[in-house]
Amino acid sequence: MAASAHIVDLVPAGSGAPLATLLKAASDELRLHILRVLAQDSFSVSELCTIFELRQSALSHHLKILIDAGLLSRRKEGTAIFYRRALAEGPLQELQEQILRHIDDTPITRSNSRGIERVQRQREDNSIAFFKGNADRFREQQELIAPWADYSEITLQLLDRLEQDAFESIVEVGVGEGWLLPDLAKRARSVTALDLSQDMLRLAKQHANHLPNVAFVQGSTDVLVQRDHQADAIVANMVLHHTPEPKKVLAEAACLLKPGGHFIVSELCAHDQAWAREHCGDLWLGFTPEQLDIWAGQARLSLNASVFLAQRNGFQIQVQHFQRC
Ligand SMILES: C[S@@+](CC[C@H](N)C(=O)[O-])C[C@H]1O[C@@H](n2cnc3c(N)ncnc32)[C@H](O)[C@@H]1O
Repeated sequence: MAASAHIVDLVPAGSGAPLATLLKAASDELRLHILRVLAQDSFSVSELCTIFELRQSALSHHLKILIDAGLLSRRKEGTAIFYRRALAEGPLQELQEQILRHIDDTPITRSNSRGIERVQRQREDNSIAFFKGNADRFREQQELIAPWADYSEITLQLLDRLEQDAFESIVEVGVGEGWLLPDLAKRARSVTALDLSQDMLRLAKQHANHLPNVAFVQGSTDVLVQRDHQADAIVANMVLHHTPEPKKVLAEAACLLKPGGHFIVSELCAHDQAWAREHCGDLWLGFTPEQLDIWAGQARLSLNASVFLAQRNGFQIQVQHFQRC
């Protein structure tokens, strides 16, 4: 399944594309590589240029052919156009699906994988740069989209209903200003406060440095995996939509959890407000609950409970409680 299932097509898939257009589109090795790469995620033109080390004019020619054939769709988000694989439909649907299945039978080339990694790093750097530039104004912007009190209350309720006297270890991924840390510190012998951004971690320390059982770590879940850290519970509130590879964070969180451990995720539901990319540093326009559940299932996390908060300013929050099998 395409990673960005929430992206809505502006250009209708070419359901009426004639057979010759479809076959022409599938007759070029580079176009097959493009379709293979777009099975992983949706990418902007400039990101695709990075992955394929091509100039935009050369790439645009191929993208147009794939769109005409109904194999790709595109959507304008903020100032960029993002491409993803279109859902096959119409009289040629079966053939389209067969073509895509054949394409996916061959793994992505090593050079394309390296290109995707470069794009993921760029996206991560953009996220760090956003929080560096906005660390002090971050709360104001965030409150417009997702009021902290609402989802943090649910997070704590979900932890409390587990009837555990105290957790040995809780990890909070993406602590931001660290507002939740005092509540987590009351519920665990040790809390690890993780954030990719040094600037946000500095603010979190100002807020929670006095708590003796909180350790601050700069980085993401991979850092704790390398340290063989084990946790009873992990909380990630409003983090996944800022991270280039949410699926990887879920998989790493599952590695960190003890068997039966709990993972609580507060996230935006899939939305259509592209301005959040520029103004709030969002890399993803929320997620469908199904998408989160698929990634969680792949990481051997099973869904335990879901809470959906009322929609506010066009955004809805979901709080999902997963448990490690
Ligand atoms: C929107 S803020 C949320 C902060 C806090 N959890 C809250 O609910 O207020 C997202 C935070 O996650 C951090 N972040 C983004 N991706 C991350 C990752 N992969 N690992 C750790 N922190 C990350 C950002 O630096 C930022 O501080």
